[in-house]
Amino acid sequence: MVDLSVKIGDITLQNPIQPASGAFSWEYNDVIDLNRLGALVAKTICREPRLGNPTPRMAETEAGIIQSIGLPGKGIEYFVDHIVPEYARFKPPLVVSVNSDNIEDFAALAEELSVPDVDVIEANISCPTRNQTGGNFAMHEDYTRDCITAIRAKTKKPLWVKLSPNAGDIVSIARAAEAAGADALAIANTFLSLKIRTDNFRPALGNKFGGLVSPALKPIVLRMVYQVAKQVKIPIIGIGGVTKAEDVVEYMLAGASAVGIGYAGFRNPTALVQIIDDLEAWCDERGIKKVTELIGAVKDADMETDTLAAASIGV
Ligand SMILES: Cc1cc2nc3c(=O)[nH]c(=O)nc-3n(C[C@H](O)[C@H](O)[C@H](O)COP(=O)(O)O)c2cc1C
Repeated sequence: MVDLSVKIGDITLQNPIQPASGAFSWEYNDVIDLNRLGALVAKTICREPRLGNPTPRMAETEAGIIQSIGLPGKGIEYFVDHIVPEYARFKPPLVVSVNSDNIEDFAALAEELSVPDVDVIEANISCPTRNQTGGNFAMHEDYTRDCITAIRAKTKKPLWVKLSPNAGDIVSIARAAEAAGADALAIANTFLSLKIRTDNFRPALGNKFGGLVSPALKPIVLRMVYQVAKQVKIPIIGIGGVTKAEDVVEYMLAGASAVGIGYAGFRNPTALVQIIDDLEAWCDERGIKKVTELIGAVKDADMETDTLAAASIGV
């Protein structure tokens, strides 16, 4: 039987499947056994309680949903006192996602979240509807460097950094995050998008813009993971459009060590566990002994396309 375990820096995951932040909560345990997941990833938390964006916060498109939830939450104190203990009942490592629109506060939050039951801090520097100096630092390599350097100085916990697919050159941002001390990269957050209603000519979302989430985006994020994997040494978690075990395989072949899953879990809450079972069967059928054999194993050495040229023109 295949060994599905993977390492993300010093953290060992029993398999490469984890939920994506904001598309999951411990309450999923009513439907699936959370102890089967590679990691548990909490919804991004901010310092103060937040109601979130004006409604409607979600709209359907022909190819997935656009959403602008606005990071609602009860603030960091409540999170540490009440939410962390809910997750701590389960075995997989707990990844807590954090965001702030101010770099100093971001770093202070990371420090305050560095409590014993938290295994990993995920810096969500890529909230698509914020501006690039106000929480969406991943749009620019200098802001990324400054933000991650500040956070790194305040926490010894493993630090994962969630990047934006909306940045012009994600490879430069990835390198900046690595140089500033990130232990892993989560690629990627949602694609900034807009829907306009034709009945009343109004934007469909209360916040106007939202993030597009769709299986159609997988090839684009896969391309980003591939390009970044060639240029950084730290592990990558591929996030975008995973709906089946073969998608996990594709991300791993492109260089990811694990994947995050959001959308598929909305459509079917048992999807994450099904994908773990299917991945195991997929590997067993092919005699793959360790899933880590797949990482970066794409066979393209005879192909000449310049990876970085493609990155800089934003193909
Ligand atoms: C309703 C919703 C809420 C989300 N909230 C967050 C969040 O709080 N923090 C974050 O980093 N990403 C958030 N995301 C983005 C997801 O973590 C993930 O990056 C994105 O959905 C792409 O993965 P998928 O194609 O598997 O859904 C959210 C996505 C959705 C659909």
